[in-house]
Parts: sequence; structure tokens; C-alpha cells
Amino acid sequence: MTDATDITRQTLAALGVSTAADLAPHFAAVRAEFERDAATITDDATWKSLRDLWMGRKSGVLTRITDNWLKPSPPELKRVVGQELNQLRAHVEQRLDALQQTLAAAAESQTLARDRVDLSLPSVQRPLGSPHLLRQTFAEIERIFLSLGFRVVEGPEIETPYYNFEALNIPEHHPARDTMDTFYLAMPPGAEPRLLRTHTSPVQVHTMESQQPPVRIIVPGKVYRRDNPDATHSYAFHQVEGLAVDTDVTFCEFKGTVEHFVREFLGPTIKTRLRPSYFPFTEPSVEVDASCFACGGSGCRLCKNSGWIELFGAGMVDPAVYGFVNYDPERVSGYAFGLGVDRLSQLKYGIDDVQLFFQNDVRFLRQFS
Ligand code: PHE
Repeated sequence: MTDATDITRQTLAALGVSTAADLAPHFAAVRAEFERDAATITDDATWKSLRDLWMGRKSGVLTRITDNWLKPSPPELKRVVGQELNQLRAHVEQRLDALQQTLAAAAESQTLARDRVDLSLPSVQRPLGSPHLLRQTFAEIERIFLSLGFRVVEGPEIETPYYNFEALNIPEHHPARDTMDTFYLAMPPGAEPRLLRTHTSPVQVHTMESQQPPVRIIVPGKVYRRDNPDATHSYAFHQVEGLAVDTDVTFCEFKGTVEHFVREFLGPTIKTRLRPSYFPFTEPSVEVDASCFACGGSGCRLCKNSGWIELFGAGMVDPAVYGFVNYDPERVSGYAFGLGVDRLSQLKYGIDDVQLFFQNDVRFLRQFS
């Protein structure tokens, strides 16, 4: 756009205007020139040049008309020039506003076009995993015991020998320590030894240390033993510890709870048998057996023709353990059990290789979702 309104550089007298009638064509010419300029606007920069050219305070066209036409005009013409000038100014302002809005709208639709999302495109198909069978078994065990009023607690996987052994009535050199081949952590010289817990039983001790009876807890968790991996062994496996201690917990309640759990977990027709066993932290100790759900008790390969399947260890809490947590063995009694989650899961779902739990092959996991 060029500053082509040359007539606004001259006075009205020089243009030969002496009446209102002479004036009109000149204002019409100026307005036509503005429209020609306005038609060339394409973006913010050209819009700004147009605004400055016409509205600029110092040397804009409108200022020029004020200086060259309005101010020097004779009194009889001044009113009409003023009116015409006001109309021109209003027109220029209104057109500049409108042009600015048109530019903004164009910019917005350009942005929208650029950022367009094609909602009809098919999405990326991500393969879905499924809940791990051990997770499902944990959940099933927790459901059964929560419905009996047990609370779920957890404990550390790194332990001191005190919690993993001593306070569970397994003193140093006790042969029971050998049966749980233990991972010890490398510690700086002089530091207290640390180990990976070989069972969830240390959480019994933590819980009783921090809470007075009644205690009814289950403890789901991971445990570690130095075993070579094969179909029935793994250096890490899973347990759910159970502990119930109160002023009147009887062997009868223990037996009833165990039977209820086995029926809920394996099925209502399954029978339970308690067999004498030994654990340093329970007295008496038992192995809980279930009647073989494969053959119904008549004898098969799964139960090695005995009709019974060994499920887990349990027993009444040995009074010696109460001594370590300052419970009064004269006042309280209770029972504990340690469920092997991997084993229970294998039995319930017929899985013959424990390694399948650790390979996380979705073809295996998917079968149980
Ligand atoms: N902690 C024992 C184990 O891992 C299991 C157990 C727990 C036995 C509680 C009796 C009572 O072998």
C-alpha cells in the first residue's frame, strides 16, 4: 500500500474548495483510497501498516486532514469539514476492527486445520496382560480370612536373625536353621547381620511387639531360600502367614478355622486331617492334609496312593514366643499357620512346574484370567 492520498497534503483552498458541495467529492476520493488499501490486507503486519498509515497520530492521513483541511478552513466551512472528518474516522475505525476480526478468525481456522485429529484412525492395539495366578490365589486366601475377621499386614523382606529365628524360638545352632538355607546380605564389618526372610513368620513377632491381643492377622508376602530352581523349588516363593492370639483361643477354634479355609479354598467336599509335626514356634505343631481332590481319597498319582495331600504347616503358638514379645503366656493363647501360596496354587489349578509362576509367559497366565 502506498500513501496515495496526495490531496490531503494540500489545503482546501489550494484544492479550490470553497463550499460544502465542493467538499464531498474530495472526502469520497479519500474514502475510496482507504478501501483500496484495505483490500490489500493479508496478515497482521499489513493490517498494522494500514492502521499506522491512516490513524498514526503524527502523520496519519486523518491527522493530515485535520491539519491541512479542518484547521485552516474558513468558519463557514469548518462545521461541514468536521462532520465529514468524524464520519471518515468512524468508518476507518470500524473497518480496521472488522479486518482485525477477520484475520483472527482466519488464523484460528488455520490452527484448527493444522492440529486436526483424525478420530476415525484405528488405534494402536496393545496386547493385554492378565492378573498373575499367584495374585489371584493371594486374593482368594485373603478373601476367606478377611471374612473371618482377620486383618492383612505386611512386613520387611530383609530381616535380622533375631526376627527370622531367635524370637521364633530358633536359637543359634538349632538344626531348624539348617533346613531354611538362608541368603545373608553382605554387610560392612561389625554391622548387625541381615538376611532375606526365609518365611513370613517374623511378621508374627513384629505384630505382637506393636499390638496387644486380640490379634488376628494374615501376612501375604515373598520369602527366600537357597534352593536350586526346578519343578518344585525356587529361590523365591510366596507365603501367607496367619496368627490369631487372644485370651480364649482354643485348639478347637484353630481346627475349625483350618477346616473352613480348606473347604472354602478347595471345595465343600474336601476333608481335613491334622498330622503331628514339628516347628520350633508352635506346640503342638501339625501338618494340615486335605483329602485328595483328584481321586476323592481312594488313591492316585497326585496323592501317591495315600488319599491325602499335604497342604501346610501350623500349630498353637509356643509359649516361648510370647516371652519374646512380652505377652503373658498364662493369659493368652493362639495359633499360627504358614500357607505356601505357590504350592496351594499348583494343587488347586493342577500346575506341575513351579517355574511357570516366574516366567510370566502370557500364554500361561492368560489361561487363568
Ligand atoms: N514358617 C513355617 C515355614 O515356613 C510355616 C509355619 C508357620 C508353621 C506358622 C507353623 C506356623 O516352614
